[in-house]
Amino acid sequence: MGVEIRVDGLTKSFGRQVIWEDVTLTLPAGEISVLLGPSGTGKSVFLKTLVGLLKPDRGHCWIGDRDMPHLREHDLYETRKLFGVLFQDGALFGSMNLFDNIAFPLREHTKKSESAVKKIVMEKMEMVGLLGAERKLPGEISGGMRKRAGLARALVLDPEIILCDEPDSGLDPVRTAYLNQLIVDLNAETHATVLIVTHDINTARTVPDNIGLLFRRELVMFGPREMLLSSDEPVVRQFLNARKVGPIGMSEEKDVSELEAEARMGHDPGVLPPIPPQLMTGDGRLRTTQRAPGEWLRANGIVPPPGSFVDEAGRNWLEEWPRYVAERTPVGGGR
Ligand SMILES: Nc1ncnc2c1ncn2[C@@H]1O[C@H](COP(=O)(O)OP(=O)(O)O)[C@@H](O)[C@H]1O
Ligand SMILES: [Mg+2]
Repeated sequence: MGVEIRVDGLTKSFGRQVIWEDVTLTLPAGEISVLLGPSGTGKSVFLKTLVGLLKPDRGHCWIGDRDMPHLREHDLYETRKLFGVLFQDGALFGSMNLFDNIAFPLREHTKKSESAVKKIVMEKMEMVGLLGAERKLPGEISGGMRKRAGLARALVLDPEIILCDEPDSGLDPVRTAYLNQLIVDLNAETHATVLIVTHDINTARTVPDNIGLLFRRELVMFGPREMLLSSDEPVVRQFLNARKVGPIGMSEEKDVSELEAEARMGHDPGVLPPIPPQLMTGDGRLRTTQRAPGEWLRANGIVPPPGSFVDEAGRNWLEEWPRYVAERTPVGGGR
């Protein structure tokens, strides 16, 4: 059931440009985590470092007893098979149709027969809603379909770890909601450890079990969703609540004079908006790693703002939860 990833003191620079420094976090096994941060903060570089495509200057990335940056070529190759990665642009081969793109890792890494390959490819294509598009070329389909094809390809080796780089960028809100739902359902189904990189605040607020925020070359905070959504750390509060007032400008970072001007105007950091309920599986099953709504807040003596955990249909998940759980059993076992 998924594997834990322990990142310790990871630092990456290109030449004299430090991208991020001393990043330490643990992605808990089987949980969904989001890494949030403005464009250019090194989120994609972080994912590529996790899978060993980029070498950090220093630090560790432990998967069990294997430290990705320090593995020999052969062990790295083997350990990479634990990962399914959806790259930011889908990274499909332009001259290959969707079927061949999705079949690629199977043909490359396994000795499965063509009929076995076909069975797996069709199963994953059905899972992401692409049946019927097998013969299409990447250039002939929409951005949303390309993302889903990239996801299907990331899944064919039944990965223990799924990394998605901006699955939501360039998609309209309906497609984004669909893809987020797909990822939550996949996690329920496979128990894989999931990391989603995004700069979409709404995805970060509603999808994951844990949130991390990269800003100005450091990991500002990483922890349970409810911890970050109730945090009064200025950068976290501003970023997760999409406020204009705070250390982050509309494009990247604000300059000092802007910040000083705001401080003079005495802007109130404002009241915390309601904490939304977490996105549930499509068929209402409980994920094995699912926490009860408000659990972290209660354990830490924090009263959520009024209106928290109420969904669009007006259901209050704090009240509904005991009944909801009683009617269900968690998705059991591994695979
Ligand atoms: N291979 C590379 N060589 C040099 N600089 C790079 C390389 N890859 C990324 N960068 C730089 O690292 C920074 C972070 O990039 P990236 O991880 O793509 O940001 P994000 O995904 O958060 O938008 C950018 O300034 C980018 O130019
Ligand atoms: Mg990126």
